[in-house]
Amino acid sequence: MSTSPKRKLDTIADEQPLKKTKMHTNGHTDDDEEMAEEIPFQKPTPDSQINHAAAIAYWSTTPATVDGVLGGYPQVSRVDLQGSANFLAKLRRQSKHFPPSKGKLRTVADCGAGIGRITKGFLQNVAETVDIVEPVTSFTDQVKDEPCVGKIYNVGLEEWKPDNGVVYDVVWNQWCVGQLTDAQLVEYLRRLPAVVEEGGWIVVKENLSNNYVGEDVYDETDSSVTRTDDKFRKLFEEAGLRIVLTELQKGFPKSLYPVRAYALQPK
Ligand SMILES: C[S@@+](CC[C@H](N)C(=O)[O-])C[C@H]1O[C@@H](n2cnc3c(N)ncnc32)[C@H](O)[C@@H]1O
Repeated sequence: MSTSPKRKLDTIADEQPLKKTKMHTNGHTDDDEEMAEEIPFQKPTPDSQINHAAAIAYWSTTPATVDGVLGGYPQVSRVDLQGSANFLAKLRRQSKHFPPSKGKLRTVADCGAGIGRITKGFLQNVAETVDIVEPVTSFTDQVKDEPCVGKIYNVGLEEWKPDNGVVYDVVWNQWCVGQLTDAQLVEYLRRLPAVVEEGGWIVVKENLSNNYVGEDVYDETDSSVTRTDDKFRKLFEEAGLRIVLTELQKGFPKSLYPVRAYALQPK
């Protein structure tokens, strides 16, 4: 399991209140003395468990294939790419700045791009140039020679500083923002409007947590979090962005987390 498409949670976690037992210097515990005490225990937030080094270690040893980046569900790629193409087409039909009549977009960014699955299967059809942001070089080696590829930034989104003067018509983030903590994601999203053309879009397309008490879920496989729809909306708000279009991806197996695309613009 990872930030990629993945199976929904189907077990209810044991939510018993946590009891801490104090150990005394004489080796006795309060339990021994039948004085067990409930100590308020702050559960770590799911995103506080994210460890970037562990995430990169996982992805660097993952095969540089569609099967690898999609966590063993390569069969969803085609319907995902079609859904993304439809989503962008809808955005453009309602756009003053980038109506379909303008033809191809100029420059877009594929963020957390992996092996360039989205660049090769969708973005290269709709844009002249695609810049790639992806920390794992064995992944970007799979896309670097595509004619549409511009600059490749081998860094995480939390560190990405686009070159001076670069502006994008679309910044596409898919199955990767779960690698950032909530604070890093807000900080990243706040920086983006400065590198997005007027009327352009920041797209976030991600799994949604179906946790039964509405919490984000930490995944230790790739040290990422799966967020709830409510959490995404709260973080977009904090970043000063508004949702101009949002859609659930259709046609995915019911056993997988639902996937939602959000198109964002500055307020
Ligand atoms: C599930 S794959 C998705 C790849 C691609 N977006 C796709 O849909 O085919 C997750 C990607 O996020 C990348 N990643 C890991 N940590 C990241 C970070 N801090 N910032 C950006 N991408 C990261 C991984 O290397 C991996 O390529």
